[in-house]
Amino acid sequence: MRKGILLAGGSGTRLYPITQVVCKQLLPIYDKPMIYYPLCTLMQAGITEVLVICTPTDRPLFESLLGNGHQWGIKIEFAIQAKPEGLAQALIIAEPFLNGSPSALILGDNLFYGHLLQSTLQLANNSTGATVFGYHVANPQSYGVIEFDDNNNAIAITEKPTAPKSSYAMPGLYFFDSNASNYAKQVKPSERGELEIVDVINQYLANKILNVTLLSRGTAWLDTGTPDAMAEATQYIAAIEKRQGLKVSCPEEVAYLSGLIDQKQLVDLATPLLKSGYGEYLLSLINKNFLNEIH
Ligand code: TTP
Repeated sequence: MRKGILLAGGSGTRLYPITQVVCKQLLPIYDKPMIYYPLCTLMQAGITEVLVICTPTDRPLFESLLGNGHQWGIKIEFAIQAKPEGLAQALIIAEPFLNGSPSALILGDNLFYGHLLQSTLQLANNSTGATVFGYHVANPQSYGVIEFDDNNNAIAITEKPTAPKSSYAMPGLYFFDSNASNYAKQVKPSERGELEIVDVINQYLANKILNVTLLSRGTAWLDTGTPDAMAEATQYIAAIEKRQGLKVSCPEEVAYLSGLIDQKQLVDLATPLLKSGYGEYLLSLINKNFLNEIH
């Protein structure tokens, strides 16, 4: 079974002074903590065992917010990244947790939402080798950028290129086979002193076992690393939730609809949350007829 790695360390310097005492992934995006969004993305991919990697200071806060995951029918463990030495380091830290399993690594400040997302994630979960995604963005130079040949095959991925070879950035969600930790150990620190995830992915590309799945333009991929990006993500989630009367990335709902928790467990989760309206929303899910295609 594939296991999830949720990377919630980092220093959040682009959000200073907000993140001087509270880490980014605990900040709200509209009506819930940021970390709920990537956690739900992993759950929607069908993953039920997740390692949250964070700084030593933040660990008690994440433990207090998320517990051991039992309340949502999943298993959550925690590990420390002492210094933000790069995304690929997560695969080395997670090696004992993975214990030979394939993984899905997601960044704690990345939000995904949209049509067919769940089936895209589940396909990636069932794939072999590694799977990364491509997403059309206005500012590819801020991301890992995928270069394609004339037949739309990925031929190179470059981290933050000054002259991007395409407009397709690679979002912070990567599916790896069970060799990822070994590949990560081959990576040498980059000029900025980090173990770059691109250097892991390029090993899969060189071995011709990298799948690149394009996310359609009907998918939202938002990252939330700056004050503007956070405000825009909040506006986006608020607009969708108010319009539909349905929540985006509500772990209790994902757990209930996937059968990970039952009605009684949902009621128990809702009770302390009634005053904010979140609890009422959870109760409204009971006996709701979703027809089809709703999630
Ligand atoms: P970034 O946004 O690249 O870095 P950051 O969170 O430290 O923020 P800033 O650039 O403002 O200083 O990180 C993306 C995500 O990955 C975020 O959720 C933090 C996480 N991360 C780690 O957990 N460990 C790391 O070593 C790095 C580089 C990032």
